[in-house]
Amino acid sequence: MDDEFTLPADTLKILNEFLQQKAQRERDELERIENKAASDVMFEEDWQLSQFWYNESTKQALGKAVCKLLSELQNEANKNSYRIALLSCPSLYDTVKQLHNNVKIFEFDKRFSACGEDFVHYDFNKANESGYLEEFKETFDLIIADPPFLSEECITKISKIIGSLSKSSTKILFCSGAIVEPWLTTCLQLKKCAFEPGHERNLGNEFVSFANFDIDSYVNS
Ligand SMILES: C[S@@+](CC[C@H](N)C(=O)[O-])C[C@H]1O[C@@H](n2cnc3c(N)ncnc32)[C@H](O)[C@@H]1O
Repeated sequence: MDDEFTLPADTLKILNEFLQQKAQRERDELERIENKAASDVMFEEDWQLSQFWYNESTKQALGKAVCKLLSELQNEANKNSYRIALLSCPSLYDTVKQLHNNVKIFEFDKRFSACGEDFVHYDFNKANESGYLEEFKETFDLIIADPPFLSEECITKISKIIGSLSKSSTKILFCSGAIVEPWLTTCLQLKKCAFEPGHERNLGNEFVSFANFDIDSYVNS
């Protein structure tokens, strides 16, 4: 007996339309969830916490850089285990999370606990406490940081945390005021780059980037 059967043409047409509509509904739902997630985890700047969010072109440029770094990974296994840490730069979370699942957002502002398990509450002031953030020691492949203050103490303490979270191969991007260069380069092997992050509001200070890799070629390609 022949197991195959054929549906009448009109039934087949109805079935195909139904499947197409179902697929479209699923796509719409996914888009709705993504948009909701994006808007859910962004908040008004709190100037008490020295919060100055990146502008859209900076988020896009850094998203492009992350995308390119991920595309250089040899295979899916490497990609899945690739870990990204965002230190005090929460406005990048949505952009990066849409590109890669394995992201931690280290933040002092507890509103960002809306990011769920990706959120790690931290305070740079605790950098010298023994065993601080020990569970993340030498864990990350890419670290992007933007400390709250342009003071030697803040830069030194955040650098210490970055050093602890890094492996020897970790790529580090550090965005801050130009004036932090002497303190920063004493702590970490980073060089000033041409890429200049921009903000939604104009800041009085000259804002620059430092990295241990050629971030300029990643944001510009
Ligand atoms: C200059 S803003 C950088 C924000 C970045 N430009 C962005 O768009 O996401 C500094 C960040 O440090 C966080 N912050 C404030 N106090 C902190 C502390 N004690 N420890 C760690 N981070 C802190 C702020 O909440 C803020 O997100």
